[in-house]
Amino acid sequence: MKVGGWNRGPGEAIFSSDKMDWCTPARILNLLRAAWPEGVSLDPCSNLSSIVCPAKAYTVEDNGLVQDWSDGLPPQGLIYVNPPYGKALDEWATTIALKHAAMRDAGVMHAIVTLVPARTDTQWFRSLMTGAEGIIFLEGRIRFLGGEASAPFPSCLIVHQFGTITKVQKLAEACRKEGALVFNA
Ligand SMILES: C[S@@+](CC[C@H](N)C(=O)[O-])C[C@H]1O[C@@H](n2cnc3c(N)ncnc32)[C@H](O)[C@@H]1O
Repeated sequence: MKVGGWNRGPGEAIFSSDKMDWCTPARILNLLRAAWPEGVSLDPCSNLSSIVCPAKAYTVEDNGLVQDWSDGLPPQGLIYVNPPYGKALDEWATTIALKHAAMRDAGVMHAIVTLVPARTDTQWFRSLMTGAEGIIFLEGRIRFLGGEASAPFPSCLIVHQFGTITKVQKLAEACRKEGALVFNA
């Protein structure tokens, strides 16, 4: 049985989606805009249904995993990632941590904000937390764009930032006002 597109049947993982392309809802974009009113600089895993509207986007055809994420971005830009779920999360988590480390070593000042399920017991979550400066546990469950119901799992924003402290603090403040638990951001 499926509820709102999410797997809920016996034997199926109720904490996973059978759909890889659930798009970010306006609720999350409004939180990001509180800190980056200029909008998202790069979405490395976009699709045609998305309302993120970044200045730059990579789709599955481009393979955002292998692209240069800092190329052409404004100073203190926002790289926003809502990665494909399922097995792909492993690769995206590792890539985000590596891209962040490379940008930090190069002195490139952008923030990477990643929206993922708050599955703190998974290996990909641990990889993603590598080098992360903060985590924001969102209150309630997200209703993804086009979803008939809220997701059956909690979500969080993981923040990798370097030189974008003021902006990240603004994001944290906006999230706190919505009831989020904020650590370190
Ligand atoms: C969860 S959706 C998020 C879409 C959009 N970023 C948003 O938040 O509205 C993830 C998207 O990543 C795309 N994708 C999967 N593998 C990718 C890759 N290697 N490079 C770029 N995009 C990819 C899928 O097509 C899917 O639409």
